Amino acid sequence: MKKISVRLWVQMLLLIGITLGLLWFSQIVMLERYYLYSQVRNIKQEGLALAKVYEDGGSVDLLEKGAEELNLKYNAGVEAYSISGERVFGYSLMPMMMGRAVYKQEVFSETAKGGIVVRQTKHNRLNSNILLVGIPIGEPESIKGVLIISSPLAAIKETKIIIKEQLVIITFILVLISSILAYYFSKAFTKPMLKINEAAARMAEGNLSVKVDVESQDELGMLAGTIRNLSEQLQKIEKLRRDLVANVSHEFRTPLSLIKGYAETIRDVTGDVKEKRDRQLDIILEETDRLRSMVDDTLNMSQMQTDTFKLNIGAFDISAAIGSIAGKFSYMTEKKGIDMEMQGTDKVITVMGDEPQIEQVLYNFVNNAYNHTPSGGWIRIKVAEDKNNVKVEISDNGEGISEEELPYIWDRFYKVSKGSKGTGLGLSIAKEILKAHDSNYGAESMQNEETKFWFTLEKV
Ligand SMILES: Nc1ncnc2c1ncn2[C@@H]1O[C@H](COP(=O)(O)OP(=O)(O)OP(=O)(O)O)[C@@H](O)[C@H]1O
Ligand SMILES: [Mg+2]
Repeated sequence: MKKISVRLWVQMLLLIGITLGLLWFSQIVMLERYYLYSQVRNIKQEGLALAKVYEDGGSVDLLEKGAEELNLKYNAGVEAYSISGERVFGYSLMPMMMGRAVYKQEVFSETAKGGIVVRQTKHNRLNSNILLVGIPIGEPESIKGVLIISSPLAAIKETKIIIKEQLVIITFILVLISSILAYYFSKAFTKPMLKINEAAARMAEGNLSVKVDVESQDELGMLAGTIRNLSEQLQKIEKLRRDLVANVSHEFRTPLSLIKGYAETIRDVTGDVKEKRDRQLDIILEETDRLRSMVDDTLNMSQMQTDTFKLNIGAFDISAAIGSIAGKFSYMTEKKGIDMEMQGTDKVITVMGDEPQIEQVLYNFVNNAYNHTPSGGWIRIKVAEDKNNVKVEISDNGEGISEEELPYIWDRFYKVSKGSKGTGLGLSIAKEILKAHDSNYGAESMQNEETKFWFTLEKV
């Protein structure tokens, strides 16, 4: 594993290296060149002026003044030679800069040919480089003499040494500081990451209620927030799953124990008593049917909650759908003495939706109304349309639902009366289907007067 601290440190060192390299280059390499360049340029310039003074026959005083200036500025020695090689003028505060050394001879003879000559030579006794600039006196065709200016280049070497020393110290300090900073930065940076990593690892092990106390406002804080959110969501899902399993097994137990009980009774006791036996077999069949519809509902429910649950939306006549569901209940309602009334379904009303699924919703609502309406009561199915939507209402005048219970009836396995026959899934299935349709839906209840379930669909 490449540690962040090491990477940070390496990156910092790289930055420092580049910075110092640039500094080194500009200070050490370029400084020398630039110094030499400007030295040559300036000496040439002043030398030319001095040669002019000489050529124009200026006084020795004037020459000396110019030479003195050159000397002050560049530590330079100034000598003038006649074309025959005789020294006619010399100025230097440093005697060793004078004299006719071999290299000077060379400069002299070359300058005497007519051009400006620049040479650099090592001076043995001074132990430094000497810059020699030869300037011809007079027009190129008629050279009268030669001006030789010699200036030591010692200063730059010393400066370079000082700069080098300073750079070494600065390098050392910067490396030290960057190491310390890299250590602390990476510490501050990796600490929350380690915390988040640990939390995620614990979640992977199944411990979903993790705490991630990273509160910073940056990306890491964001990541911590996401992990916290993930933990909450997973806990919710886990709770749902556990509830579901508990509920399902609880709901299945009742019909199963009835089936088992009656089967045993028939085997041991009533097997030969046709009348009793048939009644008990009827109960067994009824309970088997119930079990099967519970299994169907549960499967339906879990299928609806997967991402693969897709509605098959199309245009259909809601009046016809209502008619078909009402037809299924007509025998039962008649037998129980319930008056079933329909309003607004006498004409074709085309809506958008998944027809079998909407019929399932209608079935669940009407089935509930039927179950909760006593003999002599009524059920009313009403369709009303406005410009864009169709509203379907299923009302009854049964015992209704109290204000406190109303918000919970859509929950899975919720039943107001625990002893009731149903599973408590009908409304939650209806809810899932209506939500998938982007429909509005709701329930209102004035107990024993009118209990109304409604939903809307998009009109074609
Ligand atoms: N029309 C109604 N009148 C009075 N109570 C109702 C009505 N519709 C629903 N309820 C209450 O809401 C609860 C939940 O209804 P839901 O349809 O989800 O479950 P269920 O009818 O008990 O069982 P299932 O429909 O799965 O067989 C019911 O148990 C019942 O108490
Ligand atoms: Mg129901």
